[in-house]
Amino acid sequence: MKLNFKRNLKWFKKKISWNYKYSIGKWDFMDEENLRYSKIVDLIKGCEFKNLKILDLGCGYGSLNKYLKGVNYEFILGVDLSSNAISRAKKESFINSKFIVSDIQQFTPEEKFDIIIFNEVLYYLDDQMKILRRYSKYLNDGGYFIFSFYGIREDLIQEISEEYQLKRKEVVKQSEKVFWGITLFKVDSPALRSLPTS
Ligand SMILES: C[S@@+](CC[C@H](N)C(=O)[O-])C[C@H]1O[C@@H](n2cnc3c(N)ncnc32)[C@H](O)[C@@H]1O
Repeated sequence: MKLNFKRNLKWFKKKISWNYKYSIGKWDFMDEENLRYSKIVDLIKGCEFKNLKILDLGCGYGSLNKYLKGVNYEFILGVDLSSNAISRAKKESFINSKFIVSDIQQFTPEEKFDIIIFNEVLYYLDDQMKILRRYSKYLNDGGYFIFSFYGIREDLIQEISEEYQLKRKEVVKQSEKVFWGITLFKVDSPALRSLPTS
């Protein structure tokens, strides 16, 4: 009970902090990171599914949606802790897109997806592998996780590789100091992996 209260308070404070940062435009620079979004779209296009259903966790103000022209997607659901970011995303009226304010750690999807994207968000979360195991249940058979990690984060890529199949790993460099590791992982069904899913 006490632990839950502490945890909820921590994430309430984080929500306020993200909202504040969005309100003063601190994250507006993400719009300039076109190489990162383009590479993610490249990986999406390489997936064999038709009429893709995509879940973008920690979607911010929907920057990725601007790059989806030419992608064969049925719809994309963006989820973010920040109501400021989500209001901004909704104002853009992106096609086939829906946005929800929620904490990734609490959010329960109502359906399954072909691709789940963690674009610059996984390392902000507690107990990352537990979160991935939970979300893997909301992937269609043979579905994919896509990750973008600022600074590549070989440690995280290695940890994820121990449970899921690394299919592609790209390093995107914007400058000497700014670069990302962008990866595509195939997720076998839990039965095939014989791993716990919670
Ligand atoms: C660095 S930004 C990346 C935004 C977006 N993916 C992009 O690349 O344009 C990280 C985002 O994760 C969101 N975030 C952080 N913790 C979250 C959580 N627990 N649940 C949902 N969103 C979260 C923040 O509000 C923020 O919008």
